Amino acid sequence: MSENSLWLRCEKKPFERRAAITPTTAKKLIDVGYSITVERDEQRIFDDEEYETVGCTLVDNDSWPTAPINIPIIGLKELPTSSSPLKHTHVHFAHCYKHQAGWASVLARFYAGKGTLYDLEFLQDESGRRVAAFGFHAGFAGAAAGLLAYASLKDGKTLGSLEPFANEAEMISSVTAKLQGNAKNVKALVMGALGRCGRGAVELLQKVGLKDSNIFKWDLAETAKGGPFLEILDVDIFINCIYLSTKIPHFLTPKEIREAGSSRRLSIIVDVSCDTTNPNNPIPVYDINTTFEKPTVALKLDPGNPPLEVISIDHLPTLLPREASEQFSADLLPSLKELKNRRTARVWVEAEKLYKEKLSEAVKELGL
Ligand SMILES: NC(=O)c1ccc[n+]([C@@H]2O[C@H](COP(=O)([O-])OP(=O)(O)OC[C@H]3O[C@@H](n4cnc5c(N)ncnc54)[C@H](O)[C@@H]3O)[C@@H](O)[C@H]2O)c1
Repeated sequence: MSENSLWLRCEKKPFERRAAITPTTAKKLIDVGYSITVERDEQRIFDDEEYETVGCTLVDNDSWPTAPINIPIIGLKELPTSSSPLKHTHVHFAHCYKHQAGWASVLARFYAGKGTLYDLEFLQDESGRRVAAFGFHAGFAGAAAGLLAYASLKDGKTLGSLEPFANEAEMISSVTAKLQGNAKNVKALVMGALGRCGRGAVELLQKVGLKDSNIFKWDLAETAKGGPFLEILDVDIFINCIYLSTKIPHFLTPKEIREAGSSRRLSIIVDVSCDTTNPNNPIPVYDINTTFEKPTVALKLDPGNPPLEVISIDHLPTLLPREASEQFSADLLPSLKELKNRRTARVWVEAEKLYKEKLSEAVKELGL
């Protein structure tokens, strides 16, 4: 097989239904001369046949270790933990460049196999912006989860487990049904409203029927005065979507919640940003990440203080795997088209340079 080949591997991370290459992008790559091999994967939101229909060659699940060595292997999430050497060029989110737990051992596998890692999180355009990210659907899904939790709480219940939705229409009709015509009375404040996640959150709120005057869109201009912000207590749902890069004044703390007592309107906080364990978390009112099985955590409050729940799920786009994959894959497409020229194409040359820097850090760390 030639340099014009790509191999889409299966995903092994539980609940991960998204794909880095969708049938739509596979077709576009085939149209410009690529041949695409796709591992059969029941976990993926796209059926194997959808890839076959557009001209991909289907192969067994998890068979990439036997792929010809010159074919780049593309996936979304990290590979399962192992010590086997990695000989191929891999493209995925490896979560090992920021010294996350086990980072050096992940890179040691590439070192041992003389493979290469192009980490999707660090592919950048000329201006330093990520070429593809999942933010929009994180905000969109986070807002949906927030409204579902809000409606449950209105019924005196806590939101039960969440399952990925087949598509956006299903998510919207589910939220709309649960709100029982009450959407126009709901007030929400989206923090970081001009960013990717923030725009997604605002769009969901609009699509399920919140009044525009009830959607408070805050970004840097509105928070310049410095928190905490009592305005947050006067909405039903607070959706935090900021990109935290430095220490900033808190948006809300237990003190304001305690002091507001029963005058508080706020009942749900969705922390899309999920800086849960970051010492600079601007919403230091909770300290765990919640999950699809148990999406909310209730704050411990004094008697008489109405319930307040937080959603802090760190893989929200998985709730909308089809649309999230389509948008991510479309944004990645121009870079994927350049993969055959990866020795000279800027985006891949820079990704390889970063990989080599991280690899030498790992080699030093492990004394290899
Ligand atoms: N929970 C999840 O599943 C999930 C998924 C994707 C991204 N994220 C996280 O969401 C966060 C946002 O990502 P993004 O891609 O939307 O970032 P982005 O850079 O596109 O947008 C961030 C926005 O926050 C605003 N902002 C920054 N500091 C602010 C402040 N002090 N006050 C008000 N606004 C402020 C910025 O001006 C910008 O508009 C990141 O931390 C990212 O890791 C979470």
